[in-house]
Amino acid sequence: MPKLAMFGGRPAVPRGTPPPVWPVVTDDDNEAVLGVLRSGRFTAASAGEQEIRALEREWAQRVGAAHCLAVANGTAALSIALAAAGVGPGDEVIVPALSFVGTALAPVHLGAVPVFVDVDPATFTLDTAQLATAVSGRTAAVLPVHLHGLPADMDEVLAFARHRGLVVVEDAAQSHGVAYRGRVTGSLGDLGAFSLNVSKNLPTCGEGGLITTGDPALAERAGMMRQFGERLPDRGERPYVSEVLGWNAKINAVQAAFTRTQLARLDETQRRREQNVRRLLASVAQLPGFIVPAALPDRGHGWHILRFRVRPDAFGLTPRQAPVLREVVMRALRAEGVPVSRYQTVPLSEQPVFAGRAAHGRALDLPVTRAVLDDSFVVQRVHLNPEARPLLDLVAEALAKVWEHRDLLASVVGARTRDREPA
Ligand SMILES: Cc1ncc(COP(=O)(O)O)c(C=O)c1O
Repeated sequence: MPKLAMFGGRPAVPRGTPPPVWPVVTDDDNEAVLGVLRSGRFTAASAGEQEIRALEREWAQRVGAAHCLAVANGTAALSIALAAAGVGPGDEVIVPALSFVGTALAPVHLGAVPVFVDVDPATFTLDTAQLATAVSGRTAAVLPVHLHGLPADMDEVLAFARHRGLVVVEDAAQSHGVAYRGRVTGSLGDLGAFSLNVSKNLPTCGEGGLITTGDPALAERAGMMRQFGERLPDRGERPYVSEVLGWNAKINAVQAAFTRTQLARLDETQRRREQNVRRLLASVAQLPGFIVPAALPDRGHGWHILRFRVRPDAFGLTPRQAPVLREVVMRALRAEGVPVSRYQTVPLSEQPVFAGRAAHGRALDLPVTRAVLDDSFVVQRVHLNPEARPLLDLVAEALAKVWEHRDLLASVVGARTRDREPA
């Protein structure tokens, strides 16, 4: 059995292996960006600018939504989507406790109050059984997140929300073009919000976002809100009159042009990523010490982030030892050359920014969110590159190697957790 790299063995991923880059930038992307620079049409206000409208048209079509608005980033997309739907000060918005912070910042920016609910232990998306406990007379919206690329249980969310007249805004920042029961994320709720951050499956060369909706009135309000609250006429002079409270949250033409050429390759990139990731997961699923991310038959998966849970029982350890086991496994994997991280470290409700700004009163113990944060680690970004298969094969090897050395690692965990027992 080869020695673990953390104890001086040779790493499974040889030192100096270049990490696969993301995003992949091709001549098409370069030409698209240069085309904008040469044209001098940098913003939506530039006479003859086509890129932003074209991106909006193409994304609306890909998602199957009647309307799309490109904005400055995914967090702005969420805020504007909520605001366009009428969410405002004092309203409560139900959000999952496991997500990126932007999910909960968006309602807070409107003076609304996030109410955090727990997630499902296998899918990591909002546990719809918690909605009935979280809802109150002040609830205005539900904000399900398609976390890591896996669509949330939208039929259940929508049934709950429709029954009570609540707005549903999908946080689709991590699920570009992912199918759910024959439709596509971003077309399921009243509005969908996407991020085009450079780290995302559909990236721009910097920051950007997209809002989708089937409702022309919501689209019109969202369009005003990204533009200082102004209603811009199709032709003629800009009136410089702000009718509603808006932001300056516009995207620029360079970002739009780059995303359009990336979008032309999205389905092919996703197809190859799917093959690479499935191969990795099939291999890791053979190791009883790890739980691989779930895939469900009725929906796709964007595989934006891969979250693995460790199983202390399989290592002969107790559930309380999970955080230390996870730490030791992460150290072992990093020594093997596998780029792993924790990503989120606390439930969103415990981020200091939300102290006094969230409806803590009714919430909600969040046992699953806590357990997942205690016993999981993630692989992100490196697997997005469609050429990542050789690296992912080495990642699978590294995980197998760590599992082979389970007794040794369990004894390290045992010694460290004994150290931590009070005298
Ligand atoms: C789930 C989720 N929501 C919201 C956001 C915010 O997007 P952005 O970084 O473009 O503001 C992100 C991206 O980081 C995200 O992953």
